[in-house]
Amino acid sequence: MDMFRRTFAEIDLDALAGNVRRLRAALSPRTFFCPMVKANAYGHGDVGIARALEKQGVRHLGVCLIEEGLLLRQAGIQSDILVFRGFDRAGAEQILRHRMKPVVSTWEQIEDLEALATGAVNVHLKFDTGMNRLGFSTGEAQKLFDRFWQNPKLRVEGLLTHLWNGEDAGQADGDSAAQLRALRGAADRFKALSPAVHALNSAGIVHRLDRAGEKADPSHPLEAMDWGCRPGLMIYGSNPVRPGFGCELEPVMNLRSHVAVYRTLAPGEGVSYGHTWKASRDSVIAVVPIGYADGYHRLLSNRASALFAGERAPVVGTICMDYLMLDVTDAVKKKNLSPEKDQEVTLFGRSREGVLMPAEELATHAGTIPWEIFTSVGERVPRVYKGGAA
Ligand SMILES: Cc1ncc(COP(=O)(O)O)c(C=O)c1O
Repeated sequence: MDMFRRTFAEIDLDALAGNVRRLRAALSPRTFFCPMVKANAYGHGDVGIARALEKQGVRHLGVCLIEEGLLLRQAGIQSDILVFRGFDRAGAEQILRHRMKPVVSTWEQIEDLEALATGAVNVHLKFDTGMNRLGFSTGEAQKLFDRFWQNPKLRVEGLLTHLWNGEDAGQADGDSAAQLRALRGAADRFKALSPAVHALNSAGIVHRLDRAGEKADPSHPLEAMDWGCRPGLMIYGSNPVRPGFGCELEPVMNLRSHVAVYRTLAPGEGVSYGHTWKASRDSVIAVVPIGYADGYHRLLSNRASALFAGERAPVVGTICMDYLMLDVTDAVKKKNLSPEKDQEVTLFGRSREGVLMPAEELATHAGTIPWEIFTSVGERVPRVYKGGAA
């Protein structure tokens, strides 16, 4: 693909493989494992990520939309694709036609699937244990079991819930522990059908891994059974609890651009709309061709930094639709760089020099979460794959 602007999201498939490998090694080989590739694999490019995961032996992938599942099937992805969003009868038809796995949250969906099924359909039943979004109440578990028991058209392959506060999963009396106990209670009713029981998102998983060593305590709800895992954020290299907690992760997306032009400012001169930043000394400003239309939030104006020649350089002035400006005065001096030289900039991820600009840091400056930083990276930013299957 032609790239006249040279602003791109480098997707490091080796980093992805390393994150998944370390995670799998810490879990039992029997643990149900379904990486989430919804929302274009959190902005990383769902087809490329799904192919790389399949290469690693992953057999289940999670999407939100039927459309996302169709795209993966059209690209030749063979894995089981779990569709987490609700669906109507037309959606059920597509799910079945394309051999996807419905995550079922209502009795109507059960009826639709049963009416349309030509053979046995494997479903995953979702329980609402406190998120108050989608799912059956755990009080319906017995009724659901009765509906599925010896049903030639419907099989329960999995039971699940979603943690609404996975960050507290380490506490035996926390919100997550209560949710896990509730799901376990529902799962007890289904023992005769031996479904996979999955509940852990990234936060739950890193707490699970953190407890694997000396803290091991089989009475803790996290350890009371082999909870299936649906990691999203962490496979992309971001830890929802704190860096290094539970396991080491490497960023998969490195958002990069190249300086378009430099400006030298005298003290008192301002930069960008509204001159919200003014030079207090003779300054070198790098104009970088990436802006809020690419998903680099305007809220980061005068707050964030980027990596320029491996050095942190503050974002100065208001971020524009297509550009942002960096004060590179110190970096240019320190490294004795010629400002004319075409220079790569890393907005987040790891620079070529090996320096890290965590997406989490940008998220904090923008008052948001790393999930949104990744998924905001715009469509006009090409994803360029490196390593792995690239
Ligand atoms: C149902 C479900 N499971 C798992 C995940 C993965 O969560 P995380 O990205 O925190 O690992 C999500 C993400 O929103 C989800 O909606």
